[in-house]
Amino acid sequence: MIAGVGAGGLALAISACGGSAETPAATAPDAGGQSSAPQSGSPQSSAPQAGGALAKTADIPVGGGTVFKDQKVVVTQPTAGEFKAFSAICTHKGCPVGSVADGAIVCPCHGSKFNIADGSVADGPADKPLAAQQIKVEGDQITLA
Ligand code: FES
Repeated sequence: MIAGVGAGGLALAISACGGSAETPAATAPDAGGQSSAPQSGSPQSSAPQAGGALAKTADIPVGGGTVFKDQKVVVTQPTAGEFKAFSAICTHKGCPVGSVADGAIVCPCHGSKFNIADGSVADGPADKPLAAQQIKVEGDQITLA
């Protein structure tokens, strides 16, 4: 019944360690002086980036914002061309915020409001700001960073 057999037969003497075959992988880059591929500010990327695409800038009203429930993110545009993103989870009891109205992100659970410019509490009962989220705006595409 007891199968704990010490399989000592596997101790084959594989002692082929020479100890002197290490070649240092020193790949010195050529200092040729040619700067390769200078990147300009607006690369014409036709290949869509996988993942992270959230919205187009046109989807976000100026002075307002849009709630992305799936990503749990609110993207706002306090002033034209300025985009901010915050967690869509209310800091009061954790409800997802429901909408953006009158310059505030509104939680439907107990009515907390958060400033679209910085996520700060505009009206309780929440007492902590919404956490900022990183986004990237490239052209008219907004992606989660
Ligand atoms: Fe948002 Fe209470 S959970 S106000």
